[in-house]
Amino acid sequence: MEAHQKIALVTGGTRGIGRAISLELAHQGYRVIFTYLSKVEMAESLVNEIAEHNLPTAKALKCDMSDSKEVASLFKNIKKEFPKIDVVVNNAGILGNSRPFMFTTDDEWWKVVKTNVASVVNTCRNVLPMMIRQKRGVIINITSLSGQKGNPGQSAYSASKAAIVSFSKALTKEVARSGVIINCVSPGLIETDMTSNLNNGYFEERMSRSPLKRMGTSIEVANLVSYLASAAPQYIIGQEITIDGGIGV
Ligand SMILES: NC(=O)c1ccc[n+]([C@@H]2O[C@H](COP(=O)([O-])OP(=O)(O)OC[C@H]3O[C@@H](n4cnc5c(N)ncnc54)[C@H](OP(=O)(O)O)[C@@H]3O)[C@@H](O)[C@H]2O)c1
Repeated sequence: MEAHQKIALVTGGTRGIGRAISLELAHQGYRVIFTYLSKVEMAESLVNEIAEHNLPTAKALKCDMSDSKEVASLFKNIKKEFPKIDVVVNNAGILGNSRPFMFTTDDEWWKVVKTNVASVVNTCRNVLPMMIRQKRGVIINITSLSGQKGNPGQSAYSASKAAIVSFSKALTKEVARSGVIINCVSPGLIETDMTSNLNNGYFEERMSRSPLKRMGTSIEVANLVSYLASAAPQYIIGQEITIDGGIGV
């Protein structure tokens, strides 16, 4: 592999926003390593799509990002093949059942918080030593407007995303001077599998607040992530950048 080859790791790359980010970064010349939880065929189809465009070969790795042992082993494998990681996009996440807090069980509530928060923490724990040694690196954590506003029926999801923002800000203060740039991207309502079964009333209420009267697309989020991954905005650090078509204004 050429020494100047840029390498990006995207968690949850098979579908929706993660897939669009993986494709966009590949178009920007990155060798993309992406993870997935269970959808092997979708993972293979993305690797093939990237190859069909004659872009740098992508690699799909199965890993439950919320499991610290699996993530440690993922990084062990990555290090055998890749000399460095320039960019990490912590995208993997789940919404869980949209239900009022009083109707959730402890298990389902904590599963959402654990999956979303631990996935980011596990990646950071493993990639930061590499990035600090390299004296450079970019980490982009995908949060949510729900974490800023607190959405009814999404208490665990909102809490998990808000936690990721605070975690990212604290880490920024610890590692920015080592050359590692950390930011969050906070989408509003984006058309993906995650939002395909939203309750009608909730969806209509959101749309009524949208100046654009439409959902966002994964590609729009990917373009923002790609900009933050580039060398251009190095003075933007520790921020949560909202991309919501004005729904949260
Ligand atoms: N869609 C929205 O409106 C919206 C709004 C705000 C924020 N977000 C955030 O954006 C991110 C992507 O959302 P999306 O709508 O694209 O979701 P999605 O279509 O449901 O896709 C989720 C992706 O995450 C992977 N994944 C889930 N749990 C995982 C785990 N434990 N370990 C590894 N991979 C895991 C899935 O892998 P498999 O395919 O193998 O299952 C899939 O690739 C999430 O963090 C979400 O919270 C989305």
